[in-house]
Amino acid sequence: VSDNAPPIDKACLAALDEADPLASFRALFDLPEGVVYLDGNSLGPLPKATRARLDEVIGREWGRDLIRSWEANGWMDLPQRVGGKIGRLIGAEPDSTIACDSTSVNLFKALAAALGLRPGRRVIVSERGNFPTDLYVAEGVAALLGAELRQAEPDAIEAALDGSVAALTLSHVNYRSGRMHDMARLTRAAHAAGALMVWDLAHSAGAVPLDLAGCAVDFAVGCGYKFLNGGPGAPGFLYVAPRHHGAAMPLTGWMGHAEPFAFAPAYRPAEGVARALVGTPQVLSLAALEVGVDIALSAEMDAVRAKSVRMAELFAALVERDCAGLGLALASPRDASARGSQVCLRHKRAGAIMRALIERGVIGDFRPPDILRFGLTPLTLRYADLGAATAALAEVARALSG
Ligand SMILES: Cc1ncc(COP(=O)(O)O)c(C=O)c1O
Repeated sequence: VSDNAPPIDKACLAALDEADPLASFRALFDLPEGVVYLDGNSLGPLPKATRARLDEVIGREWGRDLIRSWEANGWMDLPQRVGGKIGRLIGAEPDSTIACDSTSVNLFKALAAALGLRPGRRVIVSERGNFPTDLYVAEGVAALLGAELRQAEPDAIEAALDGSVAALTLSHVNYRSGRMHDMARLTRAAHAAGALMVWDLAHSAGAVPLDLAGCAVDFAVGCGYKFLNGGPGAPGFLYVAPRHHGAAMPLTGWMGHAEPFAFAPAYRPAEGVARALVGTPQVLSLAALEVGVDIALSAEMDAVRAKSVRMAELFAALVERDCAGLGLALASPRDASARGSQVCLRHKRAGAIMRALIERGVIGDFRPPDILRFGLTPLTLRYADLGAATAALAEVARALSG
């Protein structure tokens, strides 16, 4: 927002909504009246079509077609079908992404496979301040395979890479600060050290344009229930670069077998990314996830990113103007190219502020000890919502500071 820009008032926000090329997407979602939802980066809202799709899967496919549905209704192919669509969203090569299991479990598979591809190297590098499950899983994989986890500060990641490192694993967008790493640069740095790159795209998929193939990423994982709007506990996804499709996977379940229905006594891995499957596909959850992914695919990702950046800038400018002197500080990078689709603020009474905001229908979240997190989901948020949210924030912060 430049110095000579017009004031950000209701009319200005309404004009932005009027001109918004993504405005029609909001009607595809079932959002409660009177709520400003700034938590779609944690649990995406309900697409209206999900209800009808689940009714069909439950009523007709499960209820009438019963077990025939594994083939007749394509249940067996859901991980590949939905994964393939997610792959298009993240710039993956075809047939390299599957939707299955949780992000945590997929990260376990990716890290163990990466260690297997770099025999003799016994270090996994990650970022201090990464999402806890990423660190816990990396620690667990390291303990299991006789390796160690090395944690680096976000600005010292490249310095932590040396000839002992098998894999670098990072969240592309940090869950607390919204800081976004340079995927191309860090992937190159990992490769220059002879290591493999494993990205967690939980806060990126469906939110920022991604080019996994162009960046030569080795493995990636991410969540289905955030910006992909797949519903609570939606399956995550796993990307394996085509050059690693022959890598051994650590969880050798029957769905990753070349011929699951041969019921052979010995394990023989499937060709391609399918060998990373483990057990029976989560049909209801995958059906719901597919609806959310289809909506995300129908939006122009560059328009999504442009709206997200504009919203973040407006939100920060409104906070700066309306909440001055109330003890709030920006905790996300100011530079849009280093920020994902969220704005975080710091306040010593962040927990109490967020509770009061939620009571007023402004839903973001609190991350201890002092972070207020506001997710910006361009498919459902209106510019006017930003004005309403920051006005409520100013009132609440003033009341709690007094
Ligand atoms: C960066 C990141 N990775 C992983 C997860 C969670 O993974 P899971 O779906 O296994 O619970 C989250 C959840 O918020 C996350 O923010």
